[in-house]
Amino acid sequence: MLIARAPRFRSNGAVRYETISNSLFIRNRVNLRALLKPKSIVIVLSNDIFPTNADGTMSFKQNSDLFHLSGIDQEETALILMPDAIDPKEREILFVRETNEHIAVWEGAKLSKEQATAVSGINRVEWSNSFDGFLHRLIPQADHIYLTTNEHLRASVVVETRNARFIRDCQARYPLHRYERLAQLMHQLRMTKDAEELRLLSKACDITEAGVRRVLGFIKPGVGEWEIEAELLHEFVRRGSRGFAYSPIIGSGLNACVLHYLSNDKICQDGEMVLMDVAAECCGWNADLTRTVPVNGRFTKRQRQVYDAVLRAFHELNGLVRPGNTPLDYHQQVIEVMERELVNLGLFTASEAKAQGPDKPLVKKYFMHGTSHHLGLDVHDVAPPHQPFAAGMVFTIEPGIYIREENLGVRLENDIFIANDRNIDLMSSIPIEAEEIEDLMNR
Ligand code: GLY
Ligand code: MN
Ligand code: MN
Repeated sequence: MLIARAPRFRSNGAVRYETISNSLFIRNRVNLRALLKPKSIVIVLSNDIFPTNADGTMSFKQNSDLFHLSGIDQEETALILMPDAIDPKEREILFVRETNEHIAVWEGAKLSKEQATAVSGINRVEWSNSFDGFLHRLIPQADHIYLTTNEHLRASVVVETRNARFIRDCQARYPLHRYERLAQLMHQLRMTKDAEELRLLSKACDITEAGVRRVLGFIKPGVGEWEIEAELLHEFVRRGSRGFAYSPIIGSGLNACVLHYLSNDKICQDGEMVLMDVAAECCGWNADLTRTVPVNGRFTKRQRQVYDAVLRAFHELNGLVRPGNTPLDYHQQVIEVMERELVNLGLFTASEAKAQGPDKPLVKKYFMHGTSHHLGLDVHDVAPPHQPFAAGMVFTIEPGIYIREENLGVRLENDIFIANDRNIDLMSSIPIEAEEIEDLMNR
């Protein structure tokens, strides 16, 4: 059962990123059209390039709704969809930044109109500076204006995004139209994954696997958490990822109990475990993985007890993320599973567990975070609230046990596709059994 080798890898040296078929984005727009009210116009803008300090900027991150509908990963892009437009040529219009020689010299090539059509499958492409004129001509044909807002339950946005600015301006300019929430429809559409999305999510998982296998042979006492981070990034980027799907958490010893530990600046010590919540992105789709391994390559008896408890919980929870079950019921079931494991580990007794109120503070003392979330273009992907699990969704399953008094935290996290008849673990080939981890660390 031991899988010895990293997946074979040979750089083709020719293309860094693979091409996504524009049929995905065409299908996505067809699916959205079916949900719109008659006489609607949908307007989605790209994100801003956010500033840092002085003349610095953060790297560009596209608006996920715009990417879902167009595949365009470029700033200053806008999309207008108007299925009932009188002129059929105006039913889909993509606006991209007009390039020029100055931009070509300083920033490199931007999409030509032809390239934008090839990426998105949208025939009508205009330059961004003509957007206002088009909008003003088209909007009188519409009754409903769909605009995009960030309705993620845990979003905390203190800056005014480009889409938020546009909503303000648009409502001021066209106050008597009926405004609609595009987010409600996008959450419904994005919560299940197309076969092409699943392929790219699987590729992100495969790239992640290569990174894990690389570091299993690298981790030993005296290695810096940041060196593990560097090894992973190296493996991800050379395989066609732009890098980490999210800021990596590499926490050894007590740091494994810090849920959002990001400094990754401690030396991994003999006898500790190191928790790695780290994964690759691929073409915009994200993997999300956690592995926790003994720094010296051998679990102590206690580490193994805790590890096996988390692994058992992982397998049990995988059986619960199934069509028909609801997130609310699942949450209760998770608490029961974790309570049983925590009692078995001697962290509290069955009678102490029984005496707790419904909030189960004893479980939350050792397991204090969510257990599953949707995964896709966003790591914590969007979906309508309280949506029952259904075929076509991709979820993480990520139980953990954190025992601060023992300097020990273990979390395991894989990504699961819910198929009709079973769950398909997109990370099933990434080592997770304790024996396999030990074997790979001691080669
Ligand atoms: N890496 C983020 C999460 O596990 O939710
Ligand atoms: Mn996760
Ligand atoms: Mn994670």
